[in-house]
Amino acid sequence: MYFDKKFRSQLKDLFLWRRDVRRFKSRPVDENVLQEIISQAMLAPSVGLSQPWRFIQVDDKDLRQQIIHNYEVENDKASKIYTDEKASLYRSLKLSGLKEAPIHLAIFAEHESDIGSGLGRQTMPETIHYSVVTAIENLWLAARANGIGMGWVSILDPIKVCKTLKTPDNWHFIGYMCLGYPQEEHLDPELVRAGWEKVLDTSKVFFKK
Ligand SMILES: Cc1cc2nc3c(=O)[nH]c(=O)nc-3n(C[C@H](O)[C@H](O)[C@H](O)COP(=O)(O)O)c2cc1C
Repeated sequence: MYFDKKFRSQLKDLFLWRRDVRRFKSRPVDENVLQEIISQAMLAPSVGLSQPWRFIQVDDKDLRQQIIHNYEVENDKASKIYTDEKASLYRSLKLSGLKEAPIHLAIFAEHESDIGSGLGRQTMPETIHYSVVTAIENLWLAARANGIGMGWVSILDPIKVCKTLKTPDNWHFIGYMCLGYPQEEHLDPELVRAGWEKVLDTSKVFFKK
């Protein structure tokens, strides 16, 4: 398979325009589009082909409210580690689109599944989690390619998420995603625009020995 220059340039655009989105329009996401991007997420690599990703679309109002409450409690706790200007900057950040997002997607890793027969995960069992994260990145890019924004919410008590959604004991919470059409388009991360952090240069993270 060969990908030409135009494709490579568009792929770079996709990486550049993928953003963590927290501001959504109320426009619903078509069910077929959602299913298509989930199926593209499932093209991700996984240790021993274990395919440990499990997705729950959360539509129920009461369940969503419990997740929002979980986020609010945890976000309040998280804000307490900062002082002075950093604390007020933290409190000014919008760190989830849970209230507005048309789609809520909770994502889990299934542990101790027979799928893949344990190949590749004996020495580093955490590779099951890494596999799910590769699917999440696929989801992010597939959504973006369809004009849909995604935001990852990790400021949640994972045990409470599992309780709220009554998940099986061998499902480990990985992340909670908000999806929908973005209100704004940006080439730079929101945390850069807010003055929270800068994007690192390659020279700071790439080493040779
Ligand atoms: C594992 C993970 C957890 C994250 N959790 C949150 C979160 O709880 N709230 C939030 O606003 N952004 C969250 N993000 C998004 C990051 O803040 C965002 O990716 C980063 O600021 C860079 O922005 P960009 O994704 O637009 O490039 C998370 C991202 C990752 C990879």
